[in-house]
Amino acid sequence: MGPLWSLGALLCLLPGSSLAQTVRVLDEVTGFLGQEAVLPCHFVKAAPDSKVSQVTWMKEASGRKQNVAVFHPEHGPSFPMDREGTRIRFRTPSLEDTTLVIGPLRLDDQGTYFCEFATYPGGNQDGVTHLIVLAKPTNTAEAHEVKVSNLEQPVATCTSAQGKPPARITWQSSLGGNTSTSEVTNADGTITVTSQYRLVPSKEANGQRVTCVVEHKSLPQPETLPVTLSILYPPEVSIVGYDDNWYLSRNEAMLTCRANGNPMPTEFIWSTSSGPLPKTVTVQGGNLLVQNVDASVNTTFICQATNRVGQVATEQVIFVRDKPNLDGAGTTGGIIGGLIAGIVALAVVATGVLICRQQQKNRMDHEEDDLEGPPPYKPPPPCQLSDETEPEAPRYHELPTLEEREAASEAGPGLEDDDYLDQINPIYDGLSFPAMEDEAALTPLPTDKAFVMSRAMYV
Ligand SMILES: *[C@@H]1O[C@H](CO)[C@@H](O)[C@H](O)[C@H]1NC(C)=O
Ligand SMILES: *[C@@H]1O[C@H](CO)[C@@H](O)[C@H](O)[C@H]1NC(C)=O
Repeated sequence: MGPLWSLGALLCLLPGSSLAQTVRVLDEVTGFLGQEAVLPCHFVKAAPDSKVSQVTWMKEASGRKQNVAVFHPEHGPSFPMDREGTRIRFRTPSLEDTTLVIGPLRLDDQGTYFCEFATYPGGNQDGVTHLIVLAKPTNTAEAHEVKVSNLEQPVATCTSAQGKPPARITWQSSLGGNTSTSEVTNADGTITVTSQYRLVPSKEANGQRVTCVVEHKSLPQPETLPVTLSILYPPEVSIVGYDDNWYLSRNEAMLTCRANGNPMPTEFIWSTSSGPLPKTVTVQGGNLLVQNVDASVNTTFICQATNRVGQVATEQVIFVRDKPNLDGAGTTGGIIGGLIAGIVALAVVATGVLICRQQQKNRMDHEEDDLEGPPPYKPPPPCQLSDETEPEAPRYHELPTLEEREAASEAGPGLEDDDYLDQINPIYDGLSFPAMEDEAALTPLPTDKAFVMSRAMYV
């Protein structure tokens, strides 16, 4: 990466620096800790008679120049600061190309380097390069398991270790927490940055995500590290499954203990308000199973759930009945039954009305047939449902003549005797009795059989 970087920078610099200067270098070279840095340096002869006798690389440290590398055509290379010659070398030892290679880089290699040519007759000529040594940090983020609390405290930590320069850490979150950041300089000169995400830890924050964002010169783009918060809270317990219909000798009744919490409680302890569980119940984890309901389960059941943070119990009062509780079903059943009854009743009424109308129509048709004869007494139809739909005003209060009555009797024996008598005016009733007797003497009373038949005809 270092050489490529340098090459790119060299290409950029060439047009600006080549004309005036005879020593060509890069203004700045960036290298990574532990890797190599290449500091290019070339001498360009300004005049044909110019002679180079020696080249020296110097480093300026705390206001003082120190010789780093020397090349002499007769005596070869020399490295006064690196006697073993293991970290510093010339790429291709010659007077034309005196490019210096340093590596593995240390942080203290950072500094200002001079590439100086001793020439004749021009004297010393140099180029200056700034070497920057970066340390790529190692970034990590983690959540802290903290208990629900009223006090603000760190719930996540993000660390950018051994960077140079120090990394910049920010957080992305919708929880509105605060951050606090600190830096530590390590023995090797790198810096470790630590940022804490602080929050008043609530149950709601459990499982929420916050993201640590690390920006550093060595990173082409910021590194994001998501963290899922873990806020510990005690179990929240409930007993479900009681249907208020436990009755003697019922089969298969069950209660279920439900709990959440962080960590999730996995152990449930069942008991009753009066002590241990009745022998007739079996426990399977969160479930309490009653094969056969008897008086021993006529009690209060308690479920206790435990996790690392706490122990919470809840209870369910059981009422054992002598007989099944039909109230619940009865209410709904009653409503449905009532609805059905209502619909049926409506249908019956509607049918009745239709039948009545049909009968009236039939009767009217019949009347038209008898228009020639003496007008018979016309009794109202035996229909109580549709008084208002009577096609003709009833003649209840008119006294029928004897002829009419005779005609009526003759026209339909037994056809309407009962109705006839029911509906005639009471005054008429009073007057008619003797006449009735006369009439009875004149015409035989209709037989029961005829009466029944006539009724049947109507229906
Ligand atoms: C952040 O800090 C401020 C002041 O210290 C405090 O009022 C606020 O409640 C904190 N925010 C959170 C989410 O803890
Ligand atoms: C269950 O207990 C209640 C009183 O707590 C009592 O009224 C009821 O009769 C009991 N049921 C049975 C089946 O014993």
